[in-house]
Amino acid sequence: MNDYSRAEDLLRMYKQEHLLRFYNELNTDEKQFLINQICTLNFKQIFDLYEASKEDEVIPSNMIEPLPYFDKEKLSKKDISFYEDIGKNIIKNGEYAVVTMAGGQGSRLGFKGPKGTFKLDIPPKKSLFEITCDYLKDANKKYNTIINWYIMTSIYNDEQTKTFFEECNYFGYPKQNITFFTQSELPVIDINGNLILEETYKIKEGSNGNGDVFKAMENNNIIYDIKKKNIKWVFFTGVDNVILEIVDPLFIGITFSQNCKVGSKTLFKQFASAKDWVFARKNGKPAIIDSRNFTKTMAEATDENGNYLYRDTNILAHLFHISAIELLVKKNLPYHRAFKKNTFVNDEGMKQVPDSPNTFKFENFIFDAFEYFDNICLLRVKEEDEFAPIKDYNGIHNPEIALNMYKRKFAK
Ligand code: UTP
Repeated sequence: MNDYSRAEDLLRMYKQEHLLRFYNELNTDEKQFLINQICTLNFKQIFDLYEASKEDEVIPSNMIEPLPYFDKEKLSKKDISFYEDIGKNIIKNGEYAVVTMAGGQGSRLGFKGPKGTFKLDIPPKKSLFEITCDYLKDANKKYNTIINWYIMTSIYNDEQTKTFFEECNYFGYPKQNITFFTQSELPVIDINGNLILEETYKIKEGSNGNGDVFKAMENNNIIYDIKKKNIKWVFFTGVDNVILEIVDPLFIGITFSQNCKVGSKTLFKQFASAKDWVFARKNGKPAIIDSRNFTKTMAEATDENGNYLYRDTNILAHLFHISAIELLVKKNLPYHRAFKKNTFVNDEGMKQVPDSPNTFKFENFIFDAFEYFDNICLLRVKEEDEFAPIKDYNGIHNPEIALNMYKRKFAK
């Protein structure tokens, strides 16, 4: 059987014959590309994920317990200085690295180009990558070291990201201390359960979530590199939070001194009704839970001192010990279904940009890694100090608000 017949058979089996509807109009290279893509896709995995992700998880309250946390605001000066000294030593010894996860599509922002290249007019105009780089440069000066910076891209934005760094001369950061690595992709599916075309000869795929970071690190020899450099602690975050303290000795020191292999910064959720993901112990293990699955009683639950039990939310600021990363490489994190906008080729062969989300994307979330550990060290920080992400133009996480928060922080 030739490749074309194999592709046809696969498409027939999964009712995806529409993917070949422009085949006769393609040139030889394009034909080859499309047939290869069809023959190498794991259709069973994609459609199994699609079916499984339709079911909503319901969490019985007896599976949930609160997790302890440190509140930065409530720590004494003495404690802060104690933990900070531990963290500073780790940084100074070159045992700390940062991973910026920049493989997302940034579909809500809709910016043309990798989200990290989006600029804020500070002034001067600075890209999100440069803002991250500034934090690292400051820390290098403060701790007399050079922090290794790892940047995760996706197949979709890797080339553009690297070209941008070249053009910006790596913002003056030592080039040998910046390493790019690329994550994997999975096809997206429209609301009728069909794969879509991105070009007449190409099926649309999207990066498979920031939880792919551990496997991507392994596949690209990043773990080997980290161990060779004697790095013990790795901080993971996104590309879009412009005020996050990414080199924070307090956070490192406190996680270390609790004997935890994993730490996470959190924000207090002001309103019980807010639809955030919150930290809790689930089945005895640290986890992040979609609070939409909570009853009102659980959302309002407090301890004997009146402190809320389930109000710490995730800000994508996680610290992992190298031994934890090595363990996670072997685990398969679950897939979640995200509903996102994706441009597609319509029946007339024209590219169409949707006004609203039109496709399901399957993503691993990095926070599903927490369930593989017995404990996690949570450090609650303040929104105005550490949380100003850029997600879209119209919501509460827009560029204007983020810029104002950035200016306020540095004016302080
Ligand atoms: P978000 O989930 O906010 O996604 O990612 P996004 O790509 O920025 O934007 P939308 O949802 O499409 O609008 C949080 C962080 O995780 C990274 C993103 O680049 C961002 O820094 N991420 C997300 C990845 O590295 N890979 C992915 O597959 C998804």
